[in-house]
Amino acid sequence: MVKIAPSILAGDHGNLAAEAAKVEKWGADWIHIDIMDGRFAPNLTFGPGLVKSLRKAVSIPLDCHLMIEEPERYVDKFLEAGADYVTIHAEAVSPEGLATIEGSVKRYGKGLGVAFKPATSLSSLDLSAHDVSLITIMTVNPGFSGQKFMVEVVPKIKEAATVFSRRQVEIEVDGGVDLSNARLVFENGGTVFVAGNSVFGQKVPEIAITELRKAVVTNA
Ligand code: DX5
Ligand code: ZN
Repeated sequence: MVKIAPSILAGDHGNLAAEAAKVEKWGADWIHIDIMDGRFAPNLTFGPGLVKSLRKAVSIPLDCHLMIEEPERYVDKFLEAGADYVTIHAEAVSPEGLATIEGSVKRYGKGLGVAFKPATSLSSLDLSAHDVSLITIMTVNPGFSGQKFMVEVVPKIKEAATVFSRRQVEIEVDGGVDLSNARLVFENGGTVFVAGNSVFGQKVPEIAITELRKAVVTNA
């Protein structure tokens, strides 16, 4: 069974707690929260304050995707605010930073994620000695919701699923996932589907999560 993680970035920013509660009611497994600092990604979005508010609004896991430089400076703040998964970028973390972050995540009993931009190879970071719960394969470049799914990244989803097959690791696919490619993503080993536009941007968003789940089993 795949997990659907609606990305709150695509919701109404004036009503984020209500948006999160809605998707929880419609069957979301996780809430995906895109944190951007205007340096690692060309956009500015949310901070730990939003995570704290969303923690009160829903009971499903909060999946915090940190598209920021020097993530070790902020990870504790997101954990304190109630993040269940803290995902940092392979391109933004130093070996020392990763060790610090891993220690913090363990102390809080939460999950560590590592994300890769479309052009970054999995071998750019040796994770064999690290306790990782989530690998995020980005199928768009960081920055915005509503971009086109990059089909050329699909082999990397499969590679991640193979490399981590012996470990209890979720393979999350982030960017442009919709009804037209959900089946492909699943067949290549994706287990968590981030869905921004394909939930919040739909005419009937109430049924979008169920439709995505159906597409995994029916769109051959
Ligand atoms: C992009 C973000 C994605 C984005 C997904 O920088 O990491 O999570 O919000 O939105 P869609 O599903 O619309 O591509
Ligand atoms: Zn994301």
